[in-house]
Amino acid sequence: MKSLSRADIAIIGGSGIEDLLKEAKPVRIATPYGLPPPVSVGEIEGKIAVFLPRHGINHTIPPHRLNNRANISALHKLGVKRILATNAVGALNSKFKPGDFVIPHDFVDFTKNREQTFYDSSPVTHIDMSKPFCPEIQSALMKATEQVGKSAWNEAVIACTEGPRYETPAEVKMLQHVGCDVVGMTTLPEAVLARELEICYASLCYVTNLAAGMQAKQSVSELTRFAEENKLIIREVLKKAITLLPETRNCKCVNALKDARL
Ligand code: HPA
Repeated sequence: MKSLSRADIAIIGGSGIEDLLKEAKPVRIATPYGLPPPVSVGEIEGKIAVFLPRHGINHTIPPHRLNNRANISALHKLGVKRILATNAVGALNSKFKPGDFVIPHDFVDFTKNREQTFYDSSPVTHIDMSKPFCPEIQSALMKATEQVGKSAWNEAVIACTEGPRYETPAEVKMLQHVGCDVVGMTTLPEAVLARELEICYASLCYVTNLAAGMQAKQSVSELTRFAEENKLIIREVLKKAITLLPETRNCKCVNALKDARL
């Protein structure tokens, strides 16, 4: 067994996927931004990986209270270079249906009250978001989904709202109007903070519902039912995607801080 004090890859997600890791050990990591939920470090497909349960072990942290900076900083401290995130989303695009997998290629950030950056002071840092998600992880997730016999949407814009409430029908119309395909509450600023530390990040989203106004009402039981029903597939996709990632990173995420400072 390799050392468990470091990890190359992180999975951020919900319950049901933590036991993906073999011989997993719980680890607590203090950061200058606070204490993230306990993570587990173990082996997956011959690599050391860390699992971070975004909402805490018993799902007690709501989306608008996530300490995203502590979470990403802790992964960085462990040496993580790549993050595979999973997110539940609602469909805005009427072509997308509950049960579909979506690997977003772009986002629009509608969050309101979250710490957005690690760079609050000098050096003033403007990170490039021309390719908001890591193309290498996106491609591995796409191929992995196909290999487990599922299809996924790979051209999709994700909107991230503040929550914790669901959107109104008027908000959904606005999100559709600006070209968003799915909506969730957890992708941002997680994805941006990873980029700020030159960590590759992409997300495997699964559609749990049609957005507000497109179905009679929103209910949390849909969310948990879909997560439960899809958890075995999600585990398989993540495992396969990890084997499909190139050994070394060839994407621009690696040098995200180059040319980002005045
Ligand atoms: N809106 C926001 N977040 C979500 C939704 C939704 O409809 N479904 C799952 N997460």
